Amino acid sequence: MSKNIIDVKNLSKSFYISSKEPGLKGTIKHFFRRKSTSLKVIKNVSFEIKEGEIVGFLGANGAGKTTILKMLCGLIYPSEGSILVSGYLPFKRKENFLKKITLIMGQKQQLIWDLPPIESLYLNASIYDIDKFEAKRRIKKLSEMLEISDELFIPVRKLSLGQRMKSELMAALIHEPNILFLDEPTLGLDINAQRNLRKFLEKYNKETNATICLTSHYMKDITSLCKRVICVQNGSISYDGKLDQLLKKLSPVKEILVVCRSEEDAKRLETSGFSIKNKAKNEITIQIKNDSITSSLRTIINNFDIEDLYVNEPPIDEIIGKVLIKNDYDF
Ligand SMILES: Nc1ncnc2c1ncn2[C@@H]1O[C@H](COP(=O)(O)OP(=O)(O)OP(=O)(O)O)[C@@H](O)[C@H]1O
Ligand SMILES: [Mg+2]
Repeated sequence: MSKNIIDVKNLSKSFYISSKEPGLKGTIKHFFRRKSTSLKVIKNVSFEIKEGEIVGFLGANGAGKTTILKMLCGLIYPSEGSILVSGYLPFKRKENFLKKITLIMGQKQQLIWDLPPIESLYLNASIYDIDKFEAKRRIKKLSEMLEISDELFIPVRKLSLGQRMKSELMAALIHEPNILFLDEPTLGLDINAQRNLRKFLEKYNKETNATICLTSHYMKDITSLCKRVICVQNGSISYDGKLDQLLKKLSPVKEILVVCRSEEDAKRLETSGFSIKNKAKNEITIQIKNDSITSSLRTIINNFDIEDLYVNEPPIDEIIGKVLIKNDYDF
């Protein structure tokens, strides 16, 4: 059994927002006496993550995902509760802690715009006390894994978004961290670049047993990488568990389109006790509970003259989307 690498207990975060009355009078009043109100955006959140796990954080815009990741990295202080990441208090930003983690934000960049990535890579390596020889070895290994080479010598501003993201990843991984925080890493990438990035992360996780915490609005990132998901709704955790169990819970039935050879058979099927969604001539759509799919299909095939069968999987984006926009979804 692997050990917990992230331990979060009763974590809350409030931001102080200054509020100003409208108009000139309001501005003057605000200048002399600032009024601020506190807004609790993370509310009593607890979870544990084991070494080597890949966990997806799901949630609508503004739910609190980035705020949680920032606290895990130590970029912002928690207001209440405790966080331990690899045995460290993140907000102390100890050198040994920083060597273990990395944060990659899809919408932010750390590479220097006018320099080719290779220069920033050696710069990053020296910041982490990695000698030139070792840096060269790591750059070679990462560039092979990410399938990038000549582009490393072109100024960042001239690179495409996908090439830039690969270079960003190299810069963020040069110190070989074993905990990766990825905030929307595939944002804006085309479908192939998204797929390559997912493949890379999967490989990195397998080869190094790195722990990965990931947020993404692209469901494919989550479904292909994360066995476990944490749903954040309005600053609280509404679900923490296996992704497939969440999907089963949210979508307990499957729709099957049955094309019968004759209208008589279709009529017989219609009145045989299945839950019918709709019927048109010899085509019938029935809804079957997930746990009785096999037995129901067997009954249909054995007792009716069937021309064709289609199982309609409900689109995952739609299922999850419904949950994330509701504030009080009852799991
Ligand atoms: N520095 C800040 N000051 C005030 N409010 C903030 C600050 N940072 C975040 N917030 C608020 O906290 C809430 C959570 O924001 P956060 O960025 O964590 O959401 P998110 O789940 O990452 O959303 P998205 O999917 O849009 O990235 C939002 O209402 C946001 O406006
Ligand atoms: Mg965010």
